Amino acid sequence: LNARIGQVILDNLREIPDFPEPGVLFRDITPLLANGEAFGKLIDELAEHYRGKIDAVAGLESRGFILAAPLAVKLGLGMITIRKAGKLPGPVIGVDYELEYGTARMEVRPEAIHEGQRVLIIDDVLATGGTAAAAVELVRALGAEVAGVTVLLELAGLNGRDRLPGLLVESGVTF
Ligand code: PRP
Ligand code: MG
Repeated sequence: LNARIGQVILDNLREIPDFPEPGVLFRDITPLLANGEAFGKLIDELAEHYRGKIDAVAGLESRGFILAAPLAVKLGLGMITIRKAGKLPGPVIGVDYELEYGTARMEVRPEAIHEGQRVLIIDDVLATGGTAAAAVELVRALGAEVAGVTVLLELAGLNGRDRLPGLLVESGVTF
């Protein structure tokens, strides 16, 4: 994204070794959310970065919602909730995707997305890219355009970008 966004994320990140299991370094964005000045700066910077380039902001349940809602409001746009299976009342369309163990499913209400809209997909973390790729499929299935996929943290070692070919994928900090 840009150096100011990267800095505000890094300045407010908490790293927890061996969570949720041994050998995993968990990166926690809740200190950033709890710092009103930092969170405001992050949203202001994201809004300036995307102003005029998108028509709607889609947040991925659940941590993506935290970012999508204030960004949409700041830009005067609507927010689309792309949710985990069974949360949205029908009719919905859904896409299944692979997890390390088993599968998961993301769903959206078709009425929430309009043909030709430029939709920005936003989430906290890009890991394997499975969640974001499912969201891309949903947005495209409804005839809208994915303007980009934006995350605060990108875990480059998991090659999530490879699941998002041809898309503008922007992250605040890459590990
Ligand atoms: C985490 C994270 C991303 C996703 C990234 O969500 O918030 O959404 O995993 O992983 P991937 O790139 O391998 O798909 P999680 O499903 O843990 O749920 P949460 O957002 O509800 O905490
Ligand atoms: Mg998530």
